[in-house]
Amino acid sequence: MSGLKVSVLGAAGGIGQPLSLLLKLNDKIDQLSLFDVFNTPGVGADLSHINTDSSAKAFLPTSKEDTTQLAEALKGSNLVIIPAGVPRKPGMTRDDLFNINAGIVKSLAEGIAENCPEAFVLIISNPVNSTVPIVAETLKAKGVFNAKRLFGVTTLDIVRANTFISQLFPEESKASDFNINVIGGHSGETIVPLYSVGKSKSFYEKLSEQQKNDLIHRVQFGGDEVVQAKNGTGSATLSMAYAGYKLAESILNAVSGKSDVVECTFLNFDDSIKGSKEAKKLVGDLDFFSLPVLLGKNGIEEVKYEILNEINDDEKKLLSVAIEQLSKNIEKGVEFSKK
Ligand code: LAC
Repeated sequence: MSGLKVSVLGAAGGIGQPLSLLLKLNDKIDQLSLFDVFNTPGVGADLSHINTDSSAKAFLPTSKEDTTQLAEALKGSNLVIIPAGVPRKPGMTRDDLFNINAGIVKSLAEGIAENCPEAFVLIISNPVNSTVPIVAETLKAKGVFNAKRLFGVTTLDIVRANTFISQLFPEESKASDFNINVIGGHSGETIVPLYSVGKSKSFYEKLSEQQKNDLIHRVQFGGDEVVQAKNGTGSATLSMAYAGYKLAESILNAVSGKSDVVECTFLNFDDSIKGSKEAKKLVGDLDFFSLPVLLGKNGIEEVKYEILNEINDDEKKLLSVAIEQLSKNIEKGVEFSKK
């Protein structure tokens, strides 16, 4: 498949700009559609000078009531990425963003339901643990929901998990050697890196208990390092853009016929997805959870839940803490979308 249209909602923001740049370089994309409530003409003009073969078109609403620009941006989109919303300041958790970002994400989801109901939808806007349920419920209420096509972006947690373990073994490893499965959610203790499974296992086992705990804590709270370093000006944007792009690229590759593409993503368990029932049972009956999934032409083909049978006792403990917190985050999103 080529000639794809990809839309970025929140394209002028800190994540949206570098994300749009990366998308402009992908030759599977024919049309890049840039929507935001400020500064999109500038971002669009700038990107449109890059001599890759896609077009870059900007959309900017003329008022709060103007929905025509969002509609135009979305029409015909095959994939939509949403980094829109406000970022954290020092001392804030992702959940503190709920009140502002929930409403933004809900109205964008309504636009998707009306203009490109079949698109793959990738959610970056925080708190992801709640915004993904909001989008799912909004699309369900409009009768256009397809669980295979909705993705909460947790890829930055995998990116961090890979980088942070490699930093502990600079002589023996590189960051790109690893592809750690990080499951659960995308916030603090809901983030569960599974270092004991796969290639990282032999490295991880060389660490002391203290080093293991510190490493896991660093993955869970890695976002805070960036929030503190940016000192009030925001949270991760460049690494987040890279992570969001990486998931989008994998989906576009799978849609274009590449086989065996597996990524971790925060998904809604649904009977249409192979392995959903088994996965749900293993994660305390939650409806949403991040696990590795097999991607195909239609999106999420299969949940690779078997990994949950391989984890060690420490990871089981982390998992139960994650489940407890996640159930509240999910409930909050579902409740909001029913209002
Ligand atoms: C982080 C934010 C962007 O993980 O969610 O840094």
